[in-house]
Formats: sequence, structure tokens, C-alpha cells
Amino acid sequence: METQIFKVFSENDEAIDKTADILKSGGIVAIPTETVYGLAGNALDGNVTDKIYAAKGRPSDNPLIVHISDISQWRPLVKEIPENAYALADKYWPGPLTVILPKSEIVPDKVSGGLSTVAVRMPSDKIARAIIEKSGVPLAAPSANTSGKPSPTSAKYVIEDLMGKVDAIVDAGECSVGVESTVISLCETPPRLLRPGGITAEMLTDVLGEIVIDDAVFNKLADGKKAASPGMKYKHYSPDTQVIIVKGSFEDFKKFIEKNKTEKTAALCFEGEEKELSVMCVTYGKKNDPAGQAKNIFDALRRVDEIGAEKVFARFPETDGVGLAVFNRLVRAAAFNIIEV
Ligand code: TXA
Ligand code: MG
Repeated sequence: METQIFKVFSENDEAIDKTADILKSGGIVAIPTETVYGLAGNALDGNVTDKIYAAKGRPSDNPLIVHISDISQWRPLVKEIPENAYALADKYWPGPLTVILPKSEIVPDKVSGGLSTVAVRMPSDKIARAIIEKSGVPLAAPSANTSGKPSPTSAKYVIEDLMGKVDAIVDAGECSVGVESTVISLCETPPRLLRPGGITAEMLTDVLGEIVIDDAVFNKLADGKKAASPGMKYKHYSPDTQVIIVKGSFEDFKKFIEKNKTEKTAALCFEGEEKELSVMCVTYGKKNDPAGQAKNIFDALRRVDEIGAEKVFARFPETDGVGLAVFNRLVRAAAFNIIEV
């Protein structure tokens, strides 16, 4: 398949109309959002979502998030919208928050991965919203990476993974948040946080009161246990390089590296620390800056492969606020391998 690449600088660019035309006629296009790039297609057409699963190599039981540009598009997708859902939308939409509710008939089972619920989000990225609006339908859009790889935060990585597999790629530079949206299920009481992201657990509690953080946010799913969010059970965000998180002070991290390094060892550390380390280094934001770490983590995981390291020892991020999302992605990239020093 020939993949067109559109460079887009504003929501008024002509390429937005071209993109919408492709989507209207059943094509699939990688588009920017404030979180990560998404691979978009008409969410109401199961044939289109089949193409999305195929291009990503994604297992078909892993449901897709449906993206809307206007609140009026939400109601037809779900059975009903409870008060607390409106309250969340009021406060955090448009933005990096996905809300799960029981689905209506118009949502194909292929989109919900066979579940009776549907995940919906309204992105804040202006280009994303213009594309949804002009295409006239809600858009299913998983992250625009090959299944299992780190999510793409710039078009370069989308091109690496999906060139020749999709109709077009819209290049609008770097994503501002850098980790995927927060996913909250309102299908149970108290609501359950399934994936941490830019909207923090604290921000959710402000609106919802008590919430439960799903165990899969922190821990590897026990064998045989059913995942509340099917995505949590799959291998995720993995570079080819083996990632090991080393938890402890920077001094102890340094000593650990000195003792355990080989020619092919790298460090995934905070900005500034590379000057004090004797191995190849990739940085992922500043210490004590979770938002900066979120913006950089996926890019850093891709670069770890690019520098040819066999094994990378990663600094342990703080886990409060957006830091929880950073930790959640990094610990999956590391297959839950954490060494305490
Ligand atoms: O920020 C984002 O959410 C990005 C951008 C492109 O919008 N999209 C994204 O989609 O991250 P994806 O498909 O890579 O991740 C969706 C996650 C998966 O872990 C999936 O299992 C979960 O959301 N999910 C989707 N629908 C669900 C449902 N009905 N019930 C439980 N989990 C659901
Ligand atoms: Mg994904």
C-alpha cells in the first residue's frame, strides 16, 4: 500500500480535508493527538477497524478507544451517561482522559474487542479534533505503533512502524503529553482506574471521590487472571534492548553500574546524570519533573535500541501525579524487572 505523508502545521491546513476524505471513504490514517499518535479509522465500521488491527498486528480482543470532537457524539455510543461521567467530561475534556461506559448497539463488537463496554475520549489536540470533526464520524484510534513497541510521540516513529501499512500519516511534530490517556471505567462503583496518564489519580478523585486503582497498574497480571483492561495483559512498550529498573539513590545507581557494566550496557537516566556515568546514556527528562519524564519516556525507549545497547539500567521515577503513568510504562518495558540497591 502506498502511504501518503501530510505535514500539518495548523488545524486549517488543506491536508486536514484530504485526511478527512480518506477517513470518510473507509481508509486508515495515523494522526497526532496531545498524548501519542493514533491510528484512526471510522469507529462505526467493523471492516475499517479490522484494517487497524491488521496494520498494528494487534490481537483482536484488545479494544479500541473511540475519539470524538464534540460532546454530542458521546450519547449515541453508550447506553447512558451518568452524572459522574458528565462531571468528568466537564472538567477534563477535551484532554487526555478516556471514559469507559456500557456500549450501545451502534458500536461494533470489533471495536470493543467483544466487551459490552466502550472507551471514549475527546482529545485536546486541535488538529486531531479538526480531523474528527471534518470526517463526520467518531474515530477509533489505538496508538500508532506496531503492537508491543513503545507508543509513538513523533511522526518519525509512526513512519518506522506503519509505512506501507496505512493510507496516510499526518505529521504535526511532537506530542505534548507523551504518554497515552488516563483510562477510567465508570461501569462499577467505585470507579476503577485502568491506566494512569496525564489526568492523574488525584485529579480523578477531586471529581469522583473514591476510586480504585486496578492492580494491573502496578503489578504483573497473575497467570490465569482476567484483565479488566485487555491491553494490560499484553507485552508492552518493549524496546529490543533488555530494560532493568534499578531502584535506589543516584550514588547507589552509579556504583551498581560500575559493578555490572559491559561494553553493551547503557543507562536510562535523568538529564544531567549522564555526565557522571561511564556507560552509554539516554535521558528521559529531569529528576523531580514527572511531566517532562512523561513527554520523553517513549522517545527514550526507542533511542535505547538505536544506540545498540544490549541491556539498559533505568532510573526509578517518582510515582505520584503523572509519575505514576511514567512508572507504569517503564515497568512494562522492563517486564516488571526491578532491582533494589
Ligand atoms: O492517548 C490515548 O489513549 C491514545 C491516543 C491515540 O488517543 N490511544 C491509545 O489507544 O492509547 P490504545 O488502543 O493503544 O490503548 C487503549 C487501552 C488498551 O489498554 C485497551 O485494552 C483499553 O484502553 N481499553 C479500550 N477499551 C476498553 C474497554 N471497553 N474496557 C477496558 N479497557 C479498554
Ligand atoms: Mg497502545
